This record gives sequence, C-alpha cells and structure tokens, in this order.
Amino acid sequence: MPNSFVYGAATSAYQIEGARHADGKGESIWDRFADIGRMPESGDIACDHYNRWREDIQLMSDLGVDAYRFSIAWTRVLPDGRGEVNQAGLDFYDRLVDGLLDAGITPYPTLYHWDLPQVLEDEGGWTNRATVDAFVEYTEAVARRLGDRVTNWITHNEPWVAAYLGHLEGVFAPGRTSWPDALAASHHILLSHGRAVPVLQANGAKVGIALDCRPARPASDDPRAVAASRHFDGFRNRWFFDPVFGKGYPDDMMKAYRDRGRFDDTMPAVEGRDLDEIAVPIDFLGLNYYTSLAISASDDPEVEFTPVQPGPNPPTGFTEMGWENTPEALTDYLVHLNEEYQPASVFITENGASYGDGVGPDGRVHDQRRIDYLAAHIAATHNARDRGVPVDGYFVWSLMDNLEWVKGYRQRFGLIHVDHATGTRTPKDSYHWYRELLSSR
Ligand code: FCB
Repeated sequence: MPNSFVYGAATSAYQIEGARHADGKGESIWDRFADIGRMPESGDIACDHYNRWREDIQLMSDLGVDAYRFSIAWTRVLPDGRGEVNQAGLDFYDRLVDGLLDAGITPYPTLYHWDLPQVLEDEGGWTNRATVDAFVEYTEAVARRLGDRVTNWITHNEPWVAAYLGHLEGVFAPGRTSWPDALAASHHILLSHGRAVPVLQANGAKVGIALDCRPARPASDDPRAVAASRHFDGFRNRWFFDPVFGKGYPDDMMKAYRDRGRFDDTMPAVEGRDLDEIAVPIDFLGLNYYTSLAISASDDPEVEFTPVQPGPNPPTGFTEMGWENTPEALTDYLVHLNEEYQPASVFITENGASYGDGVGPDGRVHDQRRIDYLAAHIAATHNARDRGVPVDGYFVWSLMDNLEWVKGYRQRFGLIHVDHATGTRTPKDSYHWYRELLSSR
C-alpha cells in the first residue's frame, strides 16, 4: 500500500457540533427543520463536538489518520448569511485547524454540508441566484481566515441530496417539493461551486467537490429496464458529474425534463457563461459511495424508474440504512468515471456503514460487520487504483456516531461509539482495526 495514499475519517458540522446558539451562531435550515418537527431529534447538542473537539482530535491522533474531513457551518461565520463576519464563530474552526495540524492531521474542510442560513432560505435559498453570491462571500470570509493553513478544500457535499431531497422530495431541509425548485437549486449550487473554486485556489490550495453517486444497473435484460436504468443514472449521477467535468447538462435528461414540462425551452436558471464557470478545473473529485441499485421500468407513466432490491446479483448483505452492500460496484464506477471524465485525482470522501452495535458487557463494541464492509470497500478502492484510476485517498464515514439527519441518532456510522445521553466516546472494534491498517503501512 503506497504511503502517499491518504487515509482519513469524515464528519459534518450539523451532525456533530451541537452548540446551536454558541458564540453568535445564526439559524440554519436544519435548525428550523428540527424545530418544525420534521426530524425525530435535533442537532442542538449532537455529539457536543463544539466543546469536546480536543478529545476528538486526540482520538483521531490515536487512530493515526492522515486527514480529517469536517464541514464549516456557514451560520457560525455569517449568521445573517452575508454581511458581517462573526469572528467568534470562525475562532472555533481556527482552533480546530491548529489542533489538527499540531497532531499531524491534514484538514479537509467542506464549505457546505447542507446547512444553509435560514435567512437566505427566507429569500428563496438555493432557488434564488443571489444565494450564489452569498456563498462566494462566505467562501472569501473563510479563506481569509483559514487559507494560510488549509491546503485542501471541498466546496459542496452531495449537491444531489441538497437539491432533490431538499427541494423535490421535501424529506430534507428546507422541505420544498417542486421540480422547478429542485432544478434551480441544483444549478445554483453547482454555479456557486464553480465560483468558489478560484477563490480558494488563489491561495495555492487544492479544491474539489464531493459528489454522491448511486451507480445503477438494469434489473433485467428488458430494454425498458435498460432505458430506466440509464434515466436513473442521468437523474442521480450524470446531472452533476457532466457539468462539473465540462459536458454541460446531459442532453437526454434535458429532453426528458422538457418533455415532462419541467421547463419550456431551456432550464430557466441557466444564464450566459454559467456552464463554463461550473466546469472550472478542479484539483480532485470527491466521491461519496455507499451502495448501488438495480433499476427496472415503472408501469406508472409519471414515474421513470423503480429501484429494485435485492438486485439480480445476490447481495452480500444490507446495512441498517437498508443499503445493499456492493463493493465491486465501487470499483466499476471508479473505472467508469475515469474513462468518462479523466479526473486529475479522486478521493473517496465518504464511505461507511450503519450498524447499531452498542457497548457490550466487556466495555467494547464488536462491530465486525462494519469491519467487513470497510475492508471490502477499501479493497475495491485499491482495485480501481490498480486499474489505473488516480484514487489518492479514502475517508471513512464517520469518525463517530452522529445525527443521521432525519433518521436521528439511531443510525450509527461511527468508528467511535457515542452515548448520546452522556457524550461518552468508546472506540469500536472497527476503530482498532482501522488503526492497525494505518499503522501497518
Ligand atoms: C451522506 C451524507 C452524510 C451522511 C451519510 C450517511 O449522504 O453526506 O452526511 O449522512 O450520507
């Protein structure tokens, strides 16, 4: 295993920080989503990482990770979304970055892991083009403060989730349910990425975006299943990968959306040089991978595809999210991405498994299923590397059990168990296993 390969662990602000009102933090769309009862539990306290960050860095240092991916809360930096910078909020990330660097851990901050300031949502949020300017302003404020020490940045996390779960299906904040909103949000998020990249690169840093994927395969040879799988891939994957890599929005999807009346002629949100700006060269692609899907056609004319589980190939198991365990699809997808888009470098910015194993009578957490999952996916990543894909790193989701959005604290992805009543951290067997893997390099 080459030593230049980066191993890390990942988290995000709303899922771990807590400290909802500390040091002038503003309200985010997730604070609001919890307040209006759309979540079983809120992130008001979460893992209390805002207060326990020293202990968490110590745990990372003992684990031996090279890098840590976390996210910055826009509402701590600009409580009003734009305008006056809240230095007290930035102080937290300043200390965190210094603490990481002192421990020899490279910080990989993500600027946007879905927690838009609520004041911006009140003005239309990501459906409003002005939010793009606000994001650039936020990026500049963060870069001014941390850019002297942070050399790797991720602009956005999983634009598909933010745009579609948040604006079409409405199951995530801000809970909108409209196609025009989802399409406008996806475009503005991508545009804000394109405009933030040069701001961060100006300091000489490396910049990427973390795109999520759901590789799709037809559930049968039926040509309708093949077409449905292709459509699903366009909806879920290509809509984001294509524009980021300079191919614009996929023609087949533009036609499908036009035919279905989701816009008349062209996507109304797209203006002038937008597509060129979105296609700004990035230094690395972040890929979040958990599972793949078998797709068949639907008999409902309003629905273009139906995911089928289990897939035609016998799955090796499911995690507690109900996600099929398909490591080989990760290798295939990485090879496909490399052929299709030739990224300069790829990092697996998230991969992991939810299993609820708790602390046993021996005081330990025996999460063998997580070890099996991670081992298989790390091997799948290296298989892709052996096949010529420039994969340069891998981050486990997650460093610690945290607030799994609308699923609450019951879904546990961590290498470290967190007792949410007391905040007590207990490294799981998978933590010890990962530590072994890292120290044996
Ligand atoms: C991803 C998110 C991350 C976490 C994992 C399980 O979609 O980026 O915050 O919730 O799923």
